[in-house]
Amino acid sequence: MKVAVLMGGWSAEREVSLTSGRGIAEACRKLGHETVEVDMDRNVAAVLAGIRPDVVFNALHGVPGEDGTVQGLLDIMQLPYTHSGLETSVIAIDKELTKTILVPAGIRMPAGRMVASEDLYSGDPLPRPYVLKPVNEGSSVGIAIVEEGSNYGDPIGRDVPGPWQEFDRLLAEPFVGTRELTVAVLAGRPLAVTELRPKRGFYDYEAKYTDGLTVHECPAQLPPDVTEAAMDIALRAHERLGCRGVSRSDFRYDDGAGADGLWLLEVNTQPGMTPLSLVPEQAKYLGISYEDLVQQLLDEALV
Ligand code: DAL
Ligand code: MG
Repeated sequence: MKVAVLMGGWSAEREVSLTSGRGIAEACRKLGHETVEVDMDRNVAAVLAGIRPDVVFNALHGVPGEDGTVQGLLDIMQLPYTHSGLETSVIAIDKELTKTILVPAGIRMPAGRMVASEDLYSGDPLPRPYVLKPVNEGSSVGIAIVEEGSNYGDPIGRDVPGPWQEFDRLLAEPFVGTRELTVAVLAGRPLAVTELRPKRGFYDYEAKYTDGLTVHECPAQLPPDVTEAAMDIALRAHERLGCRGVSRSDFRYDDGAGADGLWLLEVNTQPGMTPLSLVPEQAKYLGISYEDLVQQLLDEALV
């Protein structure tokens, strides 16, 4: 089988995608597939037309690989591809749009408020502590936790230095939960719950991609009903959004509050596949090797 592994691109997560993509390409070769690595640029359609792959492994993260744009291009080219399709990607990349689908389905998510960056001139959009994040980025790019006191100045403002200055569409959410959890869903099955315990600060870009900065506990030490509820919510979110292949749902959890303490933050439709990423780690916990995981995603793309 001829596989084109699509990676790189120009999102803020380019480097993460290159790391995911190279790992996936290596796995494809081990699996015996003819493998072509494609670093996406504006000529991607012509490049793929020249390669004529049987399937595209989409290893892109962020925009435009995760927001439906690339999915639409591959649909038009009639090339099968891994992970979610166009409509799901359009919704899931947008953390606010995701809520319009999942909250009415009974899934608890923090009540957010969209903030245009100029709104920040008038001060805090929510009582502190709150989280200010670009509505459609990944890997914690651009996230600020605005706490009591004056970590970002008081009042916050458009002209106060902070990551919000680089993004136009921001989402403000109350800072909820005391613990960070994640659940992958692969081929319609929730895999496990992992707890992420960063050794300092929060689970930001550096803590995600620097070996040793975060303790990953898989399976997480939680009451069995909380584990079950997190896996059930991740599965329901995956199904409601129409995800394909694999997704990863990220949660905050109020310790000690039982299953009602779970807050879903978002569903990632192109979760990382780097050596420190959580989907391969949960798969491994269940005895699914990295190569098996890649093959399952290829198989599902071709159904
Ligand atoms: N956005 C990164 C790649 C993740 O969700 O794993
Ligand atoms: Mg994300």
